[in-house]
Amino acid sequence: MKNKVALICGGKSEEREVSLLTGRQVRGALIETGFDVTTLDLNDNLVTALKEDRPDVVFIALHGKYGEDGCLQGLLDILGLPYVGSGVLASALAMNKAISKKLFRLEGLLCPKDVLVSRYSLQQPGLEGAIEQIDKNLTYPLVVKPNKQGSTIGLMVVRTRCDLENAILYAFKYDDEVLVEEFISGTEITVGVLGNDEPQALPVTEIRSVTGLYDYEAKYTPGMSEHIIPAQISDFAYRTAQDGALKSHRALGCRSISRSDFIVTPGDKTYILEVNTIPGMTRTSLIPDAAKAAGIDFPDLIALLVELALEK
Ligand SMILES: Nc1ncnc2c1ncn2[C@@H]1O[C@H](COP(=O)(O)OP(=O)(O)O)[C@@H](O)[C@H]1O
Ligand SMILES: [Mg+2]
Repeated sequence: MKNKVALICGGKSEEREVSLLTGRQVRGALIETGFDVTTLDLNDNLVTALKEDRPDVVFIALHGKYGEDGCLQGLLDILGLPYVGSGVLASALAMNKAISKKLFRLEGLLCPKDVLVSRYSLQQPGLEGAIEQIDKNLTYPLVVKPNKQGSTIGLMVVRTRCDLENAILYAFKYDDEVLVEEFISGTEITVGVLGNDEPQALPVTEIRSVTGLYDYEAKYTPGMSEHIIPAQISDFAYRTAQDGALKSHRALGCRSISRSDFIVTPGDKTYILEVNTIPGMTRTSLIPDAAKAAGIDFPDLIALLVELALEK
């Protein structure tokens, strides 16, 4: 008998449109590989819909808040339904860039120096106090981003102190915490990891964006960015990145799949930026491209993720 998969996409986050795109393509691949698929949106009727549908497994094609941050994973645990990808804790940790960086540092991984500004700290000692602390501890240019957000939403590069305040206030539109980091100049790369008990790193992908920054437009507009596999970096940096992706995956306790973003400097230092627990899954997304280079085509990749979920 065919396995029944409930595919959840859409949702309430800033990344709804990206999720719908992922959802359509994942659905196609699931049907192609012989699964029986029901597509559901993340809304108030979800629990009723899941109880009626009684799937064998849930494929979460959501990004950001409620889908990727552990909330939905907790709900599915309560309902006793297996799902693709990481559990509650790993999902919540990966969504929080500042906390995950603390864990990466414990594993010996290099991370950009940072200062975390909370909305609460703005009351006492105020934005001036936060800016003073940033000036004292970090060297410009800086990257200002919401601590828990994806798709480069709310992120700005700041070259001088006079632009810092606006960038912080802008990032606060998306989160209660804002992460201010030193800008790392170099080659942007990303590394996927697949597997449960013995996860393996995929080939390292280099990302070249027309704008220089891998922003929302570069991520989702055809022609605005290029994936180069294998990444044109030194053998040392290549190994460091694959090893770093496995370390970060394990440090957060990820399962089945993750994708870690890095920047390699001209001096061959490899800095990790973040881990994504539900990376983009359209046919032209980063992980599907890297998997293809490793001999796994898109439908097989999607089927493998379902198998890994059922193995839990
Ligand atoms: N510290 C940094 N130095 C240089 N570029 C950065 C830095 N942080 C983020 N970026 C750029 O912004 C993009 C998005 O940042 P990232 O931390 O991966 O957040 P997300 O992908 O969740 O929005 C990166 O892919 C990179 O192009
Ligand atoms: Mg990223």
